[in-house]
Amino acid sequence: MIEQLEAVYKDAESALDAAAGGEALRTWEQHYLGKKGLIIELVRSVGMLPKEDRAAFGKRANEIKNALEADYAAREAVIAQAELTQALQEGAIDVTLPARERARGGLHPATLTLREFYRIWADLGFQVFHSRDVEDDDTNFTLLNIPPHHPARDMQDTFYTTTPNVILRTHTSPGQIHAMRALGENGTQPIRVILPGMCYRFEQITARSEVQFHQVEGLCIGRHITMTDLKGTIAEFARRMFGENAAVRFRASYFPFTEPSMEVDVECFLCGGQGCRVCKHSGWLEIAGSGMVHPVVLQNGGYDPTEWSGFAFGMGPERVTMLKHGIEDIRYFWGNDLRFLEQF
Ligand code: DAH
Repeated sequence: MIEQLEAVYKDAESALDAAAGGEALRTWEQHYLGKKGLIIELVRSVGMLPKEDRAAFGKRANEIKNALEADYAAREAVIAQAELTQALQEGAIDVTLPARERARGGLHPATLTLREFYRIWADLGFQVFHSRDVEDDDTNFTLLNIPPHHPARDMQDTFYTTTPNVILRTHTSPGQIHAMRALGENGTQPIRVILPGMCYRFEQITARSEVQFHQVEGLCIGRHITMTDLKGTIAEFARRMFGENAAVRFRASYFPFTEPSMEVDVECFLCGGQGCRVCKHSGWLEIAGSGMVHPVVLQNGGYDPTEWSGFAFGMGPERVTMLKHGIEDIRYFWGNDLRFLEQF
């Protein structure tokens, strides 16, 4: 039996050396040192030996059991270390790899054009005055010389709210009234402002019309403001916006809140006035409505029209952006398609 014991010891040692991982190690432990393991079985069968051999056998069995337990602990530590090293290597970060690129946001094309407008108008002495998006019917129409049932109201299909007389502004022109009343000090102070903002119209959405769009309104009030001031100021804006040689022309038109009224064209900067698809072969692009502030509007703003005069204009930054970049469909602006937005 003692030879059997030594043989099991030898087997156990070589099996322990061969155990490659934690799993194999635990199987080994059960097989040799477990409650039903080979060593314990042998120790239990000590009674089958003659009395005089039992002590020596028991002593040797104990030595072997202790030796195997110590070897097991040592082997377990080695394997645990190896497994840890391997896990670290597998999860290692290669700090030399190039970083993943982060998607960077940009400014919306309408914002870019608006900012260009702000810069140019600021250089020309126009401050920004913010007016409300939610307007009352009076300020949006009546105070601008568009009385109820005036045919000019047909020009603008309006978003009404559930509150009577409360609407979304259809243009930035009502800002003229707010600016005159807020800054004019009862019609005693000159004004030079632009009124940028979103406008809303209850229209069919098509390539050429949206239910929301920006306008930049301009208003200049003083004691001796004439149409020459209007023409010179707009022409200077066009030069700064479209280039030193940008020619401008004024066409007689009609708006209820200005008298006289004019539409402003700039020479087509895409074809240099030769005529192309964008300018519909006219050589000119319409960029603004404008005129001398109507006496009724001056009065509604608190000014005496016999002493004060002014000019006003309204421009569409989306339209200017479309012309500049050859964008053929206004729906791109609020469609939130990154393939469009990323180009700016
Ligand atoms: N409010 C006009 C519109 O929405 C644009 C406009 C025309 C504004 C002439 C003005 C102006 O200030 O003088 O179509």
